[in-house]
Amino acid sequence: MSFTADRLLLFGATGDLAQRMLLPSLCALDADGLVDPNLRIVCTARSEHDTHEYRQFARAALEKFLPADRRGGVATFLNRLHYESVDANQPDEFGKLGAALGPIGDGPDHGLAIFLSTAPSLFEPTIAGLEQAGLTKGNVRIGLEKPLGTDLASSCEINDAVAHAFPEERIFRIDHYLGKETVQNLLAMRFGNILFEPLWNAAHIDHVQITVAETVGLESRVDFYDGAGALRDMVQNHMLQLLALVAMEPPSSFDATAVRDEKVKVLRALRPVAPNEVVTGQYRAGAIDGAVVPGYDEELKRDSDTETFVALKAHVDNWRWQGVPFYLRTGKRLFKRTTEILVRFRPVPHSIFGRGATDNPNGLLIGIQPEENITLSLVAKVPGLDRDGVRLRKVPLKIAMPDAFTGTHRRIAYERLLLDLIEGRPTLFVRRDEVEAQWRWIDQIRATWAEEDLKPKPYTAGSWGPSAAIALAERDGVTWHE
Ligand code: BG6
Repeated sequence: MSFTADRLLLFGATGDLAQRMLLPSLCALDADGLVDPNLRIVCTARSEHDTHEYRQFARAALEKFLPADRRGGVATFLNRLHYESVDANQPDEFGKLGAALGPIGDGPDHGLAIFLSTAPSLFEPTIAGLEQAGLTKGNVRIGLEKPLGTDLASSCEINDAVAHAFPEERIFRIDHYLGKETVQNLLAMRFGNILFEPLWNAAHIDHVQITVAETVGLESRVDFYDGAGALRDMVQNHMLQLLALVAMEPPSSFDATAVRDEKVKVLRALRPVAPNEVVTGQYRAGAIDGAVVPGYDEELKRDSDTETFVALKAHVDNWRWQGVPFYLRTGKRLFKRTTEILVRFRPVPHSIFGRGATDNPNGLLIGIQPEENITLSLVAKVPGLDRDGVRLRKVPLKIAMPDAFTGTHRRIAYERLLLDLIEGRPTLFVRRDEVEAQWRWIDQIRATWAEEDLKPKPYTAGSWGPSAAIALAERDGVTWHE
């Protein structure tokens, strides 16, 4: 049954994600009157605090991470927070959470939403503790933050443990990219317009590029990141979700099952990647925005084979996409922060203008962050008398989303996802079969790295990654969009 939760239980409440995203998002939703005024939020982590101390901690996080013009409701929000320290490895301690939450009612306006943002090693004991405390039955749903395992086997283990306590329709796996307005806009653009769909196939599209470039380095996540690397940290989840949204067939509705059925078909159709279709890199000292930054090995204080950059060529083996490469690249400490998708169309089959039109195929550039915009490059005539023949040039038709929707409030991904979790809308969450298809493909890539003993190539911080990544595209006559 669908219900709107009137209790929220937040695991990992002292962690980085809670400070940066969860508390600010909840506070913003609360200030805008979007959550039930009676929503009771119980926060938990291992560290010993009482509620008063935790509220002080939350206040500091909100002052740091919530924009100044959105801090109006902080005092009221803090009063909603309750804290209980729990060692997730001690199932007996979970009783305290049950007591702090109070009885969980049933009916459409009562229930518990749990948000689990802890180390993967704590997932299983946490589920066991929740079961023991009777916090899994009835109107209870659970949101799981990544990483959901480190490979298919460990992901299945986590999924099995969660499935033991919750049916799939009450499990909300988070990929925060799906909470981004611009990512959802991909669906609106593809399926809300008649223009693109007839061209959205191998007959008209030459290739697709997906770039998720970051300027940040290791930040405070040394141990986690070195055990993960760019392929598992970014490609396995966010980039494959973007690819699936670009490549999926039109679902029959925006309903969770319809959308996820189509995404999973794409993920299952991904062809195994050949060793010469992937390049990995690791950053060395360089400069970002004029400031000198250390290399990965210097930040880590030891040598490592973990990749901080990956570029690869993916293929979706189905009728629509046969022969259309999807070039994916992501990395830390790159030239600039940008997430974008470029759909490069094929040239016209015959140019009535002689040279020119066929050299300038159309492109659709979808900027996801930091700028949200859509640019369609069109071919136009260069003004002139054309005594030497018509000259053509590409011109951009550009829509900046913030300008197109002035006066609307653009919310960060976790506001949307937390609200959907509380109110029980699963469309923007990832289903088990999607996660497993993602891991199956990633495991195959990692297996070839192990076989080939592939080591990441060094690249200078502030660049676009190793030159081999440029060559990966160039040898197909493709230039990365920069
Ligand atoms: C996270 C990764 O999932 O996404 C981080 O673990 C990465 O390494 C982050 O920095 C990027 O998210 P965004 O929203 O800043 O693009």
